[in-house]
Amino acid sequence: MSPRHAPTADAWWRRAVVYQVYIRSFADGDGDGIGDIAGIRSRLPYLRDLGADAIWITPWYPSPMADGGYDVADYRGVDPLFGSIEEADELIREAHDLGLRVILDIVPNHTSAAHPWFVEALAAGPGSAARARYVFRDGRGADGGEPPTGWGSVFGGGAWTRVTEADGQPGQWYLHLFAPEQPDLEWDNPEVRAAFEDILRTWFERGVDGFRIDVASGLVKDHASPEPPPPPHGVPSYVVAGDPLSDQEGVHEIYRAWRRVADGQAPPRILLGEVHASSPARVARYLRPDELHGAFNFHFLRSPWDAARLRAVIDETLASHAAVGAAPTWVLSNHDETRQVTRYGRPFTGIRERLLDDGQPVDEALGTRRARAAVLLLLGLPGSAYLYQGEELGLPEVEDLPEAALRDPVWTRSGHAIRGRDGCRVPLPWSGTAPPFGFGPPGSTPWLPPPASWAERSLEAQSEDPGSMLALYRRALALRNGHPGLAGETFAWLPAPDGVLLFERDDGLRCAVNLSGAPVPLPASRTTLLRSDAADAGDPDALPPDAAAWYLDR
Ligand code: NOJ
Ligand code: MG
Repeated sequence: MSPRHAPTADAWWRRAVVYQVYIRSFADGDGDGIGDIAGIRSRLPYLRDLGADAIWITPWYPSPMADGGYDVADYRGVDPLFGSIEEADELIREAHDLGLRVILDIVPNHTSAAHPWFVEALAAGPGSAARARYVFRDGRGADGGEPPTGWGSVFGGGAWTRVTEADGQPGQWYLHLFAPEQPDLEWDNPEVRAAFEDILRTWFERGVDGFRIDVASGLVKDHASPEPPPPPHGVPSYVVAGDPLSDQEGVHEIYRAWRRVADGQAPPRILLGEVHASSPARVARYLRPDELHGAFNFHFLRSPWDAARLRAVIDETLASHAAVGAAPTWVLSNHDETRQVTRYGRPFTGIRERLLDDGQPVDEALGTRRARAAVLLLLGLPGSAYLYQGEELGLPEVEDLPEAALRDPVWTRSGHAIRGRDGCRVPLPWSGTAPPFGFGPPGSTPWLPPPASWAERSLEAQSEDPGSMLALYRRALALRNGHPGLAGETFAWLPAPDGVLLFERDDGLRCAVNLSGAPVPLPASRTTLLRSDAADAGDPDALPPDAAAWYLDR
């Protein structure tokens, strides 16, 4: 099969389907129980055939893995756990041969505490140039024993840790918005800025097509607001206007410089931000023509399964992105958030603090129906779409992992109050009837145990089943990539009953999503392209609750 498009096609990101590979949990080539580059390479044809345009690979750099690799000790290398730099080069080449672009994950807010810069900063002492790369401050109170501000870490506990100085005495404090093993960098420091621009260039020269920027909105802090931002409990990341730790004006200049680096490549490369801001309009400010190419639409991801709420997010997204000339993006899940099959089956269907919703009763059949409808909404909208590995298999959140297996720092940092994000990171089931389900070679043990019930959800088990989640994703992606009605950026709402989202794209292609409690009639004259509900169930001329359809109005 030939690639769908040449890797130089213009503005490809405006409508790209980007598949997120959480490397630890995707596929394990060497049998150590941890996903790796060899595993990804073996599955590239699967991703191409599924209909992805690009893959975003979560951090593969050398790391002590205090936060699954989001604690980077060397931004230019590959951790031996995942492979080698030569394998990375091979992966990039093979992906390009298949017409798949490769997006890496860069982590500029913080390094690992094992990064040579931080090791140097600890040794060098207060006032040194080495400390000026990080956010070191003297403590408050008579003996400096109180943290410099009341800010909390996203993973629980305080955001400052006190160091022991060379003389053995308690000394300064350093800032970490996440775990203590992830010290925040000082982005006012020109040396930090220059180093990251150089890291971007290094990987662009290796052929990567772009970067997903971790905590993109968090690099600049407002030290004049020392009190903790609400809300108190945290998993990433609930930003309210006025939060001193996110969406500060100073970040934009950083991305203008990065854009110059990306635009200076041949062909130009792209930048996608993990932007947490208080509204889609605030997110769009990162997408002005001289800043980032895209940002994750967390407002869409977090929305409850509610027509009015979704419609409002869609409207705000389309309007604010159009105002800056940016393409909208849509996403339903990632490696930090509760999988949609589970959350759409809970009493509260949106995303808020895990403390409130984890462990609530789940109607998984209902959640699955909604997740099927939701992907037709996602892929029916104009712009770019992000898929998280395993959603095409309809994987649920695994809420009953044994406590001893939990690895997310949230679990320990929250004093075991919040189990954390491991439940959406369970290694993928590819084939077979027993663990490791083809995740690794026979006899290997995946780093988190997949439930026995995942035998039915493996790629192999779903491949020949036309009613499977996988079959729905395949058909939807094939239509999205091939049907002219979905190719452009045209979008218009049509009148519809309460609780129903109905919009038109090009060539009379319509997408209807029923979030009401009653069936809604579909026009008799239509040509159905795809439905999320079972083809043979019920009245063909009505869309049942929690179902969606794509059809031509003729
Ligand atoms: C956001 C990433 O998606 C998450 O997994 C990570 O823990 C934090 N940033 C900190 O790097
Ligand atoms: Mg491995």
